Amino acid sequence: MIGLSSCVTSPTASQMRRANSSLKQSAKMAKQGDYSGARTAAAVVGRSVHTGIELAPIVTSKTGQKVNLKPMLTSWESGPYQDLKTALKGKQQKAATIAFTNLRGQCTNCHSAIGRPNIHLN
Ligand code: HEC
Repeated sequence: MIGLSSCVTSPTASQMRRANSSLKQSAKMAKQGDYSGARTAAAVVGRSVHTGIELAPIVTSKTGQKVNLKPMLTSWESGPYQDLKTALKGKQQKAATIAFTNLRGQCTNCHSAIGRPNIHLN
């Protein structure tokens, strides 16, 4: 079974991949002026990140440290994610673009905390 470990995926990783593809969808729809679609996709981003962390809130970083991701989840949910929802609801293109950028930044903050800052985001 050579290479099996590289195929094994965690439930959290699969939620995160869904978050990533919904993020791409949401940004694309917002750009096209489809704010309703963008909001639906953004809600999937929020749910997927939340579920992914709830499934495994305590992780061991690459440096061997145990990290509780719950506080970071909370700040992710109360920060740019709220800004994004507000911007999409108000159909504010400029604010939405800024919120998408900040949101990705916070995705990466958490990935940095687990020692994986290079996870590619859409
Ligand atoms: C509070 C922490 C946290 C936040 C916020 C977070 N992630 Fe993650 N993410 C993780 C963890 C933990 C993993 C590793 C999961 C694993 O490999 O089991 C991960 C892994 C990933 C992966 C790699 C999945 C794979 O195939 O290995 C992607 C892509 C990803 N996240 C996207 C996102 C996106 C997009 C956002 C923001 C919308 C986000 N993440 C926000 C904690 C977070």
